[in-house]
Amino acid sequence: MQALILAGGEGTRLRPLTIYTPKPVVPIVNRPFLFYQIDLLKRAGIIDITLALGYQPNKIEDIFGDGQEYDVHIRYVVETTMLGTAGAYKNSEEQLRQTTVVFNGDIITDANLKDVVSFHREKQAAATIVLTPVENPSIYGLVETDMDGRAIRFIEKPKTEEISCNTINAGIYVLEPKILNYIPEGEKFSFEYQLFPALLRANEPVYGFVWSGYWMDIGTPQRYLKANDDLLNGRIKSFKVERHPYPVPIGEGEPPQIDKRSVIDPSCTIKAGVEIINSVLGPNCFIEERARIENSVLLAGARVGRATEVRGSVVGKSALLGRFAKVENSVLGDKSSLTDYTIV
Ligand code: GTP
Repeated sequence: MQALILAGGEGTRLRPLTIYTPKPVVPIVNRPFLFYQIDLLKRAGIIDITLALGYQPNKIEDIFGDGQEYDVHIRYVVETTMLGTAGAYKNSEEQLRQTTVVFNGDIITDANLKDVVSFHREKQAAATIVLTPVENPSIYGLVETDMDGRAIRFIEKPKTEEISCNTINAGIYVLEPKILNYIPEGEKFSFEYQLFPALLRANEPVYGFVWSGYWMDIGTPQRYLKANDDLLNGRIKSFKVERHPYPVPIGEGEPPQIDKRSVIDPSCTIKAGVEIINSVLGPNCFIEERARIENSVLLAGARVGRATEVRGSVVGKSALLGRFAKVENSVLGDKSSLTDYTIV
């Protein structure tokens, strides 16, 4: 078994977090995102992994190298022009000689891939698409199946009157190499809009495997925050969060209050009277006296001034927040700077 992770998109909906950091390595609870996908693959015994890159590829290669450090074997295929999801799969053809698990590089799930692969084999499918039920399928791709799980219709971004089921394409596929013959070489091509409908027309056996456990795509700031929150609160069963002892507080006065859910990198500096609730602080954050941080993610090197409050927000790398500011439901890009008393 092999795996291909599609990790070449620009991640425009997650801007400004993706301006200097490609989405696949934006940290979730202080770990570059792709580590969660690599863990999932490893758990299913899949260690031969190809990453299909396009946007800022060096930043991804620098983190994972050849994968040896993480007990996997990683190869890279870099697109010079974006080829779309299926185009990226075709472009990696030389690396992919076996049944391949393909992942969108922006989903976090605790799906059991061994079960998905067993289902794929049992059905003798040419392609298996993992499906997940969601409340509002209108922004995703609907996949209708028959009683046996065989796909009968795909509707991308359905209108209200077209919503006939709630199972959407979860962005995880098991594909047989013969599928590659349906994708033109060197052209932009999409799994969702082009390849899967073409497979149905050709009467290839395409199946849907329904996964009702945890699934989330981190493609927007709201969902990025939610994924962090879900990990902190143990809602993603297969991932345990690593918590270090909290850094020793600096300065005199009341000791900081940090709740048990928060994850704080030990290199952070936390001053007296600080309150941290259900939040993540990346390496080298600096939090001044009486600041309050709640339901938020602070990326590496963020500084929060005295008595400033941050709620429900993401604060980019090396952002500088002045004193007595209030930041609520906001996303601040890397190196943002807020003057004292700012309210956003
Ligand atoms: P948005 O710009 O916010 O839509 O994000 P995105 O560029 O990541 O696109 P989207 O969320 O639709 O992509 C789903 C997954 O496929 C992501 O992991 C992308 O990195 C990946 N992806 C999308 N298009 C391409 C492509 O042309 N090449 C490669 N290699 N990966 C792609």
